[in-house]
Amino acid sequence: MEKMRIVMLPYLAYGHITPFLELAKKLSNRGFSIHICSSPINLSFIKAKIPEKYSSSIHLVEIHLPNLPELPPHHHTTNGLPNHLKQTLFKTLKMTKPQLHQILSDLKPDFFIYDIMLLWSAVVASSLNIPSLRFYTVNAAIFSYFFHFYFNPGEEFPFPALYMRDYELAKMTHEVADDAEVEVDRDKVTESDKFVLVHSTKSIDGKYMDYLCGTGQAKVVPIGTESPEDGVGDVDKIDIELVKWLEKKTEHSTVYVSFGSEYFLSKEEMEEVAYGLEVSGVDFIWVVRYQKGEQVELPQGFKERIGDRGRIIEGWAPQQRILKHSSIGGFVTHCGWNSTLESIEFGVPIIAMPMLYDQPLNARLMVENGVAVEVPRDEKGNLDRVNIAEKIKHVIRDETGENLRKKMNNLGENVRSQREEEMDGVVKVIQLLIDEKKGTL
Ligand code: UDX
Repeated sequence: MEKMRIVMLPYLAYGHITPFLELAKKLSNRGFSIHICSSPINLSFIKAKIPEKYSSSIHLVEIHLPNLPELPPHHHTTNGLPNHLKQTLFKTLKMTKPQLHQILSDLKPDFFIYDIMLLWSAVVASSLNIPSLRFYTVNAAIFSYFFHFYFNPGEEFPFPALYMRDYELAKMTHEVADDAEVEVDRDKVTESDKFVLVHSTKSIDGKYMDYLCGTGQAKVVPIGTESPEDGVGDVDKIDIELVKWLEKKTEHSTVYVSFGSEYFLSKEEMEEVAYGLEVSGVDFIWVVRYQKGEQVELPQGFKERIGDRGRIIEGWAPQQRILKHSSIGGFVTHCGWNSTLESIEFGVPIIAMPMLYDQPLNARLMVENGVAVEVPRDEKGNLDRVNIAEKIKHVIRDETGENLRKKMNNLGENVRSQREEEMDGVVKVIQLLIDEKKGTL
């Protein structure tokens, strides 16, 4: 029998492409044939991340971006894009509507899954009678936060654990407002869009899923997380020296420090992190990324003072391989959702330093789960070296780390035990929507 075909359209950013790929692999394991649409450079990146065993079940389809230079996925974000292009990204993506229409007409898929940032694409699918489902590539806690303020403005959010300070809220709202085009076309979205796939699992934020389902407005369907066999990747890129260095460290003695693919530390932030690491006395691996054209550097003499206690990786690190290593005892992270899930997967306690977007809420969700400590900022909302050093020491040297690790390992167990059941749920919803559509034709 011919496989059912699903076309997928992720948004052009690393943090979105990664969960789409994860979902593609899971659905292909369930017997679907997958077609992922993206721009040529993004597709070459996606191709490199697809294990060989999926070569006959995951296919790639090119979409060309008019008026936008081709950039790799970690630059196709409002944060990483050059200023003059920020405003044009969403508009440009919308201009690919005719291309998507052509692709869907040619492939005649049974189903379409699109990024919630690209709501307009549901209208294209609907015009061709193709049932569809939107994918919110972060978690239900974030979704419930936005949902609450969208539908119940002025009312208090019922989950105080996710409380956000004013400066965090301002930073997040500003960034999201930049992406305001997301809201266009909302009215035209079909009834099936009450279903929302989320990149999470019941054991992490089940109560927020229940809250959303209880509103009767959003039926949340978790896709679960990825199994490590497919996910660790980067084997050939692993720095042998780095492994040797890690091998010399004692168990859980070292922190891994990274702020994801989109955020670039300012000069002041770079200094606070550097001095925080230095003062903590704890061994570390720090991924330092510089934005092109910016004059941000490590403090003078930092590398010399640190010596063999720290490793600086400029650019990109084999993150999952590092987190998996037993010498790593804590992850100083911005709490991007993918990094957070990887920390759960590998049982590494989180030292949270959220920067923007959903990150402050993700951090609080992890604190609520008992698997993270958050580094407090000063009264102006700035990073503070003393607080950074204190929290790192707590997690690596005190009992705090052991307690967090126990809870993290339990959470990881629960997440893994729900994987198959949650994917059963996803497949059921897809089948239901396909059947419903057939019934209406
Ligand atoms: C973006 C947003 O910034 C974040 O708020 C949202 O939750 C997801 O989209 P990003 O900043 O890229 O995410 O962070 P994250 O979600 O943590 O994803 C980063 C990914 O890149 C992870 O899978 C991580 O393993 C990988 N990575 C990052 C590396 O492999 N090496 C690196 O050096 C840095």
